[in-house]
Amino acid sequence: MNAQTPTSAERAEKLEGMGCKRKRVEDIRFTQGKGNYVDDVKMPNMLYGEFNRSPYGHARVKKIDTTKAAAVPGVVAVLTAETLKTVNLAWMPTLAGDVQMVLADGYVLFQNQEVAFVIAESREAAADGADLVDVEYEQLPVNVDPLKAMAPNAPVIREDLKGKTEGAHGKRKHYNHIFSWQAGDKAATDAAFTKADVTIKELISYPRVHPCPLETCQCVASFDKIKGDLTLYGTFQAPHVIRTVGSLISKIPEHKIHVISPDVGGGFGNKVGAYPGYICSIVASIVTGRPVKWTESRIDNLSTTAFARDFHMDMEIAATKDGKVTAMRCYTIADHGAFDACANATKWPAGLFSIISGSYDFPTAYCLVDGVYTNKAPGGVAYRCSFRVTEAAYCIERAMDIMAQKLGMDPADFRMKNLIRREQFPYTSAFGWQYDSGDYQTALTKAMEAVNYKKLREEQKQKREAFKRGETRELMGIGVIHFTEIVGAGPSRACDILGIAMFDSAEIRIHPTGSGICRLGTKSQGQGHETTYAQIIATELGLPADNIAVEEGNTDTAPYGLGTYGSRSTPVSGAATAMACRKIKAKAQMIAAYMLEVHDDDLEWDVDRFRVKGNPERSKTMTELAWAAYHEVPPGMEPGLEAVDYYDPPNFTFPFGAYICVLDIDVDTGTVNVRRFYALDDCGRRINPMIIEGQIHGGLTEAFGIAMGQEIHYDDEGNVTTASFLDYFLPTAVETPHWETDWTETPSPHHPIGAKGVGESPNVGGVPCFSNAVNDAFAFLGSTHIQMPHDHWRVWTAAEKLGLHA
Ligand code: CDP
Repeated sequence: MNAQTPTSAERAEKLEGMGCKRKRVEDIRFTQGKGNYVDDVKMPNMLYGEFNRSPYGHARVKKIDTTKAAAVPGVVAVLTAETLKTVNLAWMPTLAGDVQMVLADGYVLFQNQEVAFVIAESREAAADGADLVDVEYEQLPVNVDPLKAMAPNAPVIREDLKGKTEGAHGKRKHYNHIFSWQAGDKAATDAAFTKADVTIKELISYPRVHPCPLETCQCVASFDKIKGDLTLYGTFQAPHVIRTVGSLISKIPEHKIHVISPDVGGGFGNKVGAYPGYICSIVASIVTGRPVKWTESRIDNLSTTAFARDFHMDMEIAATKDGKVTAMRCYTIADHGAFDACANATKWPAGLFSIISGSYDFPTAYCLVDGVYTNKAPGGVAYRCSFRVTEAAYCIERAMDIMAQKLGMDPADFRMKNLIRREQFPYTSAFGWQYDSGDYQTALTKAMEAVNYKKLREEQKQKREAFKRGETRELMGIGVIHFTEIVGAGPSRACDILGIAMFDSAEIRIHPTGSGICRLGTKSQGQGHETTYAQIIATELGLPADNIAVEEGNTDTAPYGLGTYGSRSTPVSGAATAMACRKIKAKAQMIAAYMLEVHDDDLEWDVDRFRVKGNPERSKTMTELAWAAYHEVPPGMEPGLEAVDYYDPPNFTFPFGAYICVLDIDVDTGTVNVRRFYALDDCGRRINPMIIEGQIHGGLTEAFGIAMGQEIHYDDEGNVTTASFLDYFLPTAVETPHWETDWTETPSPHHPIGAKGVGESPNVGGVPCFSNAVNDAFAFLGSTHIQMPHDHWRVWTAAEKLGLHA
């Protein structure tokens, strides 16, 4: 080979394919203020909508008078439930099989519930009008405590369902009960507990929190009366689902609905579902014949759109004296608020919560979840998580620490003893999940070595002795966790949304000059899809990533897809992209064989070309083949070079990680100082290590916020007391600790490129790691479990309860 001919490795590097730290192409526009968000969408003659909202947590609506609102200069119309009833839209179906009021119909069931929608020439006029909607209320008893929801005399939340004994998921036990869902083997688990040497039981609550995308939910609806077409711009994580649900609700034929998600500024599950703002904007556009924009305020976002968690888990573990787990059992009350608008796959009212046996080899396990109604906002979304996996990971990782404490074992040693071993994969859990691949001991060992775990424990021992002697007022905590994730919903046999199988898709067109476009049914909200899908194509097809445009978010052009949430883009659409490439490559191989006058089987692939086996000088590059596909195809072959793939994954993927947190607590102020946070993630084959690191930094920052300060809190009257960033902790660069990231790479055996998802892992693993560290600081004083969030006040209170301020 002559000196100028680039080697295969050099050619591969130039493609910037999988494994390359390719710079994010979307950042060119984002960092220059050139993104195109819903707020940038301005249509001629556009109107603005604003809600009047309930000041009460529970009340009967006796009268709504819109006269004063309608008289505000610039106000064009006011919608109430009565208006919506004329088009049969006063209530809408939810993804969870319930129904939800679009505008208050006789009652309000949570504070800030939507009561009337005022449409005006400006946002300000709409807001003035909304203030002047006159509503007469009669207050009703409130319940915001899920643990009291099924008490005999609890206030009735849903009058409309009071007599109904069957819900979307079977029998209802009580008028505030939504569903019961169970998994595992109850009899075998109960038997194992009877025989157990050691057991623990703890109520582990994961408080109600809220995803905080910087861009709130918003939309612009434009109904064309002449064509009968509806165009809907919005902050949608799943545009096709919005189109289908929109058609089912509005009865507008689906081909007449055009949904466009432009750039989206963060989603985290908050932008999956359908909200009253979307429905009201659509109706308002139909009524007025003009485009209508709805923009949610921060307070509206924090207090009304989909919350997350609010799971209260009574967790038990059984183990032998020498520290081998024998069973786990968990009873959970899930607070779904006033309507069950949880965005889960249809068959899973408690999501994938039965991943709760985590990374450990439990011979038997059982869980039961009861969903209940309260006077709180609806939702229950997978906030940077796969349908309740975060709650499950938090619960098992706290419980493992509590058991280690009872056994007098080091929490890392206890985990190491019970982790599923490498040779057990593919591993079937006690709940029936088939974990695809893992090497857990290697990950935990690497993590422990990286932080010098042994030395940290020695330092902690000395500090504890010094504390007991009164020489310091600081406590040192070490949190260690190993999590297993379940992402990539999903195999259609297990997952659907309203009957639509949860597959995903990619359509790739290669142009004659060897560049191309890939369109997908997913939607990036900042995860860098435009960069990474192109990298998959670069490696698969041997075309430079820079030559591939990636387009998402337009239902008219993208093949049908179920959207982006629950780290499903890489496991499902990443696989679809690779499979579409392989269809293209198969055609290109036939064209190459024809051009080189050899049989297809005599060709081999080399980075960016097919070459003749044993005669590598004779080759055709993919760029040459792209040109040939448009002018020199073999006789009988269709011209062109494109493919679409709808990928129904055979299984979920199971990423995992080992995290360690070291922190110091000042017992007199409750101040927590995170000294060190180390995160090792394994997401199988890594497409872009730089983007993965960014995802982990972002997710850990969210986890820090959740563990150390976030809670959507309601007082007893149903007032939400944390509806702004003044009261709801959103960490900034000032509070956020430094992150150390690391990795191992255990490919998924069933994914075409061996990749698993990663986006949500740091949120899933980060929260229990922080909480374990805080709890570990107090464990030697006999404390077993301090509930989250661990803000200064609550940490101080925990110290007070332990008598540390005496
Ligand atoms: O569905 P979502 O995009 O939120 O999650 P994801 O599939 O975990 O991907 C998040 C980002 O990380 C995307 O840009 C992926 O391409 C990238 N990623 C990667 O580079 N390698 C992986 N094995 C997994 C994700």
